[in-house]
Amino acid sequence: MNNELFDLKVGDISFKNPIALGPMAGITDSNFANKYAKNAGLVILGGFNLDEETNEAASRMAERDRKEYVTDNPLEFLKDEINNTNTEGAVAANIRSATLEPLLEAAEIIKNADAILELDAHCRQKEMIDIGVGEALMHDIPRLVEWIEKLKETGVILSVKIRANVVDDIELSRKIESAGADILHVDATLEGKNKADLKAIRKIRDSVRMTLIGNNSITEFSDAKDMFSRGVNLVSVSRGVLDNHNLIDELVEGVTDFQEKIGWYNAPKHICAGEGDLRGLTFCCLPIKPCAVQNKLKKLGITPEEFKDLKMEFAKGTKLEFGDSTCFGSLVWCCKLTKFCPIRDGVLYMLDMSGPEYMQLKKELANYILENANIPVNETE
Ligand SMILES: Cc1cc2nc3c(=O)[nH]c(=O)nc-3n(C[C@H](O)[C@H](O)[C@H](O)COP(=O)(O)O)c2cc1C
Ligand code: SF4
Ligand code: SF4
Repeated sequence: MNNELFDLKVGDISFKNPIALGPMAGITDSNFANKYAKNAGLVILGGFNLDEETNEAASRMAERDRKEYVTDNPLEFLKDEINNTNTEGAVAANIRSATLEPLLEAAEIIKNADAILELDAHCRQKEMIDIGVGEALMHDIPRLVEWIEKLKETGVILSVKIRANVVDDIELSRKIESAGADILHVDATLEGKNKADLKAIRKIRDSVRMTLIGNNSITEFSDAKDMFSRGVNLVSVSRGVLDNHNLIDELVEGVTDFQEKIGWYNAPKHICAGEGDLRGLTFCCLPIKPCAVQNKLKKLGITPEEFKDLKMEFAKGTKLEFGDSTCFGSLVWCCKLTKFCPIRDGVLYMLDMSGPEYMQLKKELANYILENANIPVNETE
């Protein structure tokens, strides 16, 4: 397998596949990663407690039988854990502190190790929230924004881990993006349910352009596929790896196979299915009759005429220009490869164009539409 198959990169860090081990405090250390996540595109170690206050809070949590990393030398421990991780993918460290200074010191260590810093704005344990850590950051957006800005000044690649459905997801995601974070890691939790909130993921995808890691309740490839089709770039798995030590390998195999066959592992759903994100416009028909596309175009702030022009502009000089026999006279208006259509497939055959090549062009077209519409999305659904 090569790093190019997925074309996944953030700053100078590339991911050989879109499967990540998610952090579990006291559990996901270098040993755990080396054993169960050797083939992951990303392992996220931690969460590590960086100062006295978080270490004390973690000690109190450990008294009620939660596993936690408690140490007198947090920065040395962090450095050793990153260095001892011997997997084939990228490494991130999920960290917590009650004040900014230890996070800045950790940022230097993490950057020098070519790893990713993940700020924990996720933890819902009372002991952490009481000292202003984890979820408390989601409720204090000005402080979260200030910390992101200061951390980014160090040059570190920064991920922010949040839980969906705690505050206004769209406002939070946009603030995190505009503050300069590189990655948003979303635990799409649905209180009381053992499944992810896919709608929350789609709404976040339609609100920001940054790299997204989707997380929650993934135990097999079909769960990961559901999340990919709502626009996440990577998925992470935590509890699932405890139950099935082969989960990461199974997901890597599933997504690699899918990417080789389809060419766009996180291709969106069709918009008429009611589940497609804005990237789904790439598969839309010529807008000549009222349907779900009108609403999406409104959200993008473009008219059907402008949409038509954007698609035609992109198609010019590419193989998407062809396809007289298709419903709207050109492949640029054609459906997703996974939708059975002998007419489109006949055109692909005539053009000597593979399915993955077709989907790659559709992916580029989706980016072109979003970049050129260039209007803040007013997502209200
Ligand atoms: C025991 C345990 C410890 C966790 N510790 C952390 C942590 O330190 N930092 C963090 O951001 N998330 C932490 N999480 C949350 C997970 O990373 C993940 O978001 C959550 O478990 C949902 O994903 P899953 O269904 O794949 O487990 C923890 C989860 C568990 C079960
Ligand atoms: S334009 Fe076509 S693909 Fe898009 S929502 Fe309408 S009917 Fe569906
Ligand atoms: S020709 Fe087939 S793929 Fe193209 S728009 Fe018509 S049904 Fe969809």
